[in-house]
Amino acid sequence: MTADLERHFEERYGSRPTHVVRAPGRVNLIGEHIDFAGLPVLPMALQREVRIAFRPREDGLILAASRDSSFAPCHFELGASIEPYEEGDWGNYLKAAAQGMALAYGVDRGCDALVESSVPVAAGLSSSSALVIGTAVALAAANHRTIDPLELAARMADAERYVGTRGGGMDHAIIAGARAGCAARVDFDPLRLEPVPIPPDWRFLVADSLVQAHKSGGARAGYNRRRVETDRALGAVVARLGLAARDVRSYRDLLERVPGPESLAAAAFLPADLLKRFRHVVTEAARVVGAEVTLRADSPVGFGMLMNGSHASLAEDYEVSIPELDDLVRIARDAGAFGARVTGAGMGGCIVALCSAGTVDDVRQAMDDRYYAARGPKAGPFDRLFVAEPAPGASVART
Ligand code: GLA
Repeated sequence: MTADLERHFEERYGSRPTHVVRAPGRVNLIGEHIDFAGLPVLPMALQREVRIAFRPREDGLILAASRDSSFAPCHFELGASIEPYEEGDWGNYLKAAAQGMALAYGVDRGCDALVESSVPVAAGLSSSSALVIGTAVALAAANHRTIDPLELAARMADAERYVGTRGGGMDHAIIAGARAGCAARVDFDPLRLEPVPIPPDWRFLVADSLVQAHKSGGARAGYNRRRVETDRALGAVVARLGLAARDVRSYRDLLERVPGPESLAAAAFLPADLLKRFRHVVTEAARVVGAEVTLRADSPVGFGMLMNGSHASLAEDYEVSIPELDDLVRIARDAGAFGARVTGAGMGGCIVALCSAGTVDDVRQAMDDRYYAARGPKAGPFDRLFVAEPAPGASVART
């Protein structure tokens, strides 16, 4: 609630905030672990969002607090080289954005800020990138800068590497650039967003496994390792095909020259683990193309099949699912979902299931009965099971 946030800001800082930023979380519908390979993905922004009430300062300090008392208040000076806090500290996301904004735009005016969020943390819904984009939008406004959302997204995707995860650009792009009522196909190099409307009868149900996957903690190593393996597989196949490494720097470059099936055939020599990573990227790229077609054609059956294929590939070839996520996927499908898959980086976090308006309540009930009932009463502030509503990208409003 914005009014509540503004009141708490006033209690903390002694005067009203001048602005409130909102930055949504996101659910990726399909196209997982391929954004950093330069390949298109299909995410959607959510109604769950990070909100930041702030007031610009005359100096370069950033004072930030969260309404969630598990995140300690912090303060630091804006600049091009900011010393990080300890690993896992939420303030590092603020510092990532602040340093990125100082480097890219020379901003030198800080702010007093109060943050609240309805995006569950470490659940694969991009709470951290929402915080990064939200902070960047606040600093842009505090410094009277108007920045194109996609340009900001590209800068912040780089800036977030400050926390040590070698992420791709999907999250920042959809958080900054989403259109209400739509998912978007995100293309990279150059970054582009093509909105695709969600048909009125489609419902994307998001279910949290309640197993956390911390991007700045344990999940980071798993994510980075797979990325290294994925890159290594590409390099080996490019060499095998006799292509010049300088011309083929990404999977996208490869697939533009050598179609998926031929690339896969050429990869047969790879050691088993690298072959799996390679196969996931190449087949997931094809599924994204199909998914956009089925979404535009209002074919939930087709879209659901592709989601199921994506989950199988993420579980078996990319190896980022866990038994809890597999359970949720199975329950959703058994209860009538068109398809279901892990969403986000995996290793914990959420699944997304495509249902119709007519079946969504049955699927929700089945998950309650067969997954959540055994896990005790709801703990924590967030619904663990909700229908994602396609929300607009980040924005700032004067109070
Ligand atoms: C994380 C990263 C994204 C993307 C997904 C997996 O969310 O931040 O760039 O790679 O994992 O699809």
